[in-house]
Amino acid sequence: MAAAASTAPDAQRNCAPGGALGLFDRARLPLHQLRRALRQPSRLRRLHHAAVLASLHSLFEEDELGLLRHHFTIDAPTFRRLEGDLLGDAAFRSEVESRYRRMRGESLQLFGASSAEDCDRGYRLLYYLVRLAKPRVVVETGVFDGISSAFLLKALADNGSGRLCSIDLPARQPIAASTDKMLHDALPAGCEPGWIVPDELRPRWALRLGSSAELLAPWLDELGSIDLFFHDSLHTFANMRAELDVAWRHLAEGGFAVVDDVFWNRAFRSFTAAQRQPGHVFRGIGLLRKDGAGARSDT
Ligand SMILES: C[S@@+](CC[C@H](N)C(=O)[O-])C[C@H]1O[C@@H](n2cnc3c(N)ncnc32)[C@H](O)[C@@H]1O
Repeated sequence: MAAAASTAPDAQRNCAPGGALGLFDRARLPLHQLRRALRQPSRLRRLHHAAVLASLHSLFEEDELGLLRHHFTIDAPTFRRLEGDLLGDAAFRSEVESRYRRMRGESLQLFGASSAEDCDRGYRLLYYLVRLAKPRVVVETGVFDGISSAFLLKALADNGSGRLCSIDLPARQPIAASTDKMLHDALPAGCEPGWIVPDELRPRWALRLGSSAELLAPWLDELGSIDLFFHDSLHTFANMRAELDVAWRHLAEGGFAVVDDVFWNRAFRSFTAAQRQPGHVFRGIGLLRKDGAGARSDT
């Protein structure tokens, strides 16, 4: 998932939580991205077709609450409470922002009041999902700066349970089909993957460095069963399918597979077809629940 470099559109921060954006509002989002790209040619050069497809797809997507309602019994006040736990955590926001500004020299614009500038909707979705699913074990491939890891770990901390196991092949140089289209395409000099994760969130975290092709299967064997898998590493068809295939075998009934950048290739679509389940897509992130069961009441 790309943060400040993301070309994924954002919805209005001040829209009613869970309230549907009008088509007019949504249509402005890809336009804003295009305008920004035209102002900054460096962004245009790095614009990936997957980001364009994600922008167009967002015109017709449900919002987060609509998406979550496919899997959880959740009403608007409950969603608002979760949103408040995240957006109202000034310490989390300021810690992540200040680390990012120190190393990258710019703001992430987390939880920004300006819809057009903040690019964190995918991260928020990860947070809500973990809060609602209450996973025991989350496995993530692709850490980079550690923004997604930080959101996952904050959700686990707010749940008071669960741990995150992450795998990352450090991007000391840009990696094709992974970081090469991002505005910042390599780790900052001297930084290790996950450098942005606040210290107080680290006790629930284990990070192993290397390729997911080598590390994922053996670690899953050690873990036995997992409850949520998040792919965001190497977005080749072969790697995405291989990760999904092995993670799915270890996913507990009711667990979630979450896949970033589903428009890079057909891996997510071919996987959902193989499972005979449609899956859902939000801002380029694909979501598939293992049992396909209806809503459950666990909020
Ligand atoms: C898009 S970035 C991850 C961004 C992060 N998930 C976030 O949203 O904050 C992709 C990461 O996957 C790593 N990566 C690339 N190829 C990999 C591989 N074969 N196995 C594991 N990680 C890989 C890259 O070095 C990079 O750190």
